[in-house]
Amino acid sequence: MVIVYKCRICEEGFIGGEKPTHCPFCGAHIENMVLAKDYVKTEVIELTKQTGKNVEAAIGIELSNAEFYFCAAAKSDNIADATMFKRLAKIEAEHASTLAKIIEAKNPKISRKKDICGNNKHNLKESHEREEKATARYAQFLEETCEPRAIEVFKALIEIEKDHISLTEGRF
Ligand SMILES: [Fe+2]
Ligand SMILES: [Fe+2]
Repeated sequence: MVIVYKCRICEEGFIGGEKPTHCPFCGAHIENMVLAKDYVKTEVIELTKQTGKNVEAAIGIELSNAEFYFCAAAKSDNIADATMFKRLAKIEAEHASTLAKIIEAKNPKISRKKDICGNNKHNLKESHEREEKATARYAQFLEETCEPRAIEVFKALIEIEKDHISLTEGRF
């Protein structure tokens, strides 16, 4: 038997036997996965100027990281890292569109440039640096935010990007 779950962060559905430990689309932790029939949306209330600016900056970070990861996946020299980078690219793209919905912006376009990353070893290191940077920026954005939906998303993104940091730990 399968059940329909819904992720409170990216709002994607998941059909499966058991709740996944992490959302397969955005990486949010299990506590954000709810039964679709019980899902209640956190509506966006009026954003402060600062929150709007921070969400826009976060979209920029996610887009840049998604583009970097698509490049890294294409340039990878082994299947395991290519698989990891491609999944990371799609997760960061999901983050960009999750954030875009908060400010009612269009789904951002992601380029597939192949000259914005280095070789596999370099990309492992750059991934680590990018995820550390994103985590630090989002911690700052979270402090400056009082809007419930933005708080929920920034909190989840911090946890997810921390998971991504651990993927490359000790690998470069
Ligand atoms: Fe999700
Ligand atoms: Fe992200």
